[in-house]
Amino acid sequence: MTDEQDEGPDSTAVRVALWRAMHVQVDSPPHVIEDEIGLQLAAPDEGWRRRPDMDPRGTSGFRAAIVARARFIEDLVAERAGHGVSQYVALGAGLDTFAQRRPEIASRLRVFEIDQPGTQAWKRRRLIDLGYGIPDWLRLVPVDFEAGADWWEQLSEAGFDPGRPAVVVCTGVTVYLTKDATTAILRRLAGLAPGSTLAMTFMLPTELVDDADRPALEATTPQAQAAGTPFISFHTPQEMLALARDAGFKDAHHVPGSVLAERYFADRADGLRPSSGEDLLVATT
Ligand SMILES: C[S@@+](CC[C@H](N)C(=O)[O-])C[C@H]1O[C@@H](n2cnc3c(N)ncnc32)[C@H](O)[C@@H]1O
Repeated sequence: MTDEQDEGPDSTAVRVALWRAMHVQVDSPPHVIEDEIGLQLAAPDEGWRRRPDMDPRGTSGFRAAIVARARFIEDLVAERAGHGVSQYVALGAGLDTFAQRRPEIASRLRVFEIDQPGTQAWKRRRLIDLGYGIPDWLRLVPVDFEAGADWWEQLSEAGFDPGRPAVVVCTGVTVYLTKDATTAILRRLAGLAPGSTLAMTFMLPTELVDDADRPALEATTPQAQAAGTPFISFHTPQEMLALARDAGFKDAHHVPGSVLAERYFADRADGLRPSSGEDLLVATT
């Protein structure tokens, strides 16, 4: 975990940003999403593509799963914005670059990116250094979900209007949080104005992961631990749906990773397919 004294990006956020860039650089078109701005922000050492976790073949399933979820979120936000929703909140935004890549949509919204203070301070500096700047419609809100501070109040102070609907996304974060922290987040979000949508990913317990994907996923567990970003929480779909419904969401749906695979990877000539292991909760107020 980073803090303000230890300014720098969270390593898990850098990894997924590099996977999004790898997709553009090593996979054949059509690209599910085109995002090399995260790579620009991260500015890794020259040999970054030789990192073991970037192995083009060995980690292709993870790379594909990351671009699938990014595309799903981007489609959802564009669709909600098209229906007049004017606030977009990304919880644990990391090196998300929607604001820089899709300014034609983002600038019509108020975009709130929440992440740990160290990651936020670093990202703010990088966006300025690279010339993207921080437009008025983009708000970087520093929050540690485990620190007990009232992030809802911080969000309001940053300009979020709880009386208006929002689209809220949270990708790749719950596995790093305690279940209590995720439950508290869901309770807060269930109080969003009617017409709001939440999309949140969660990692499945290993017994629910496809047999073919399980060894690779299990191999990453000790690596995550060693990197100081251990996998803490796995949820079954039923558990996640119950958490959302108990929190007070009007509707809650489970979107398996296989649905994203079908939607974005069907008919690819190169056989690229997302690995299983991460599913989505989509809930509305
Ligand atoms: C795997 S990254 C995902 C980033 C982004 N959502 C994406 O999909 O590219 C996980 C993110 O969760 C953030 N995170 C982890 N623990 C957190 C906490 N306790 N409070 C706030 N953010 C946290 C990390 O800083 C990191 O940016």
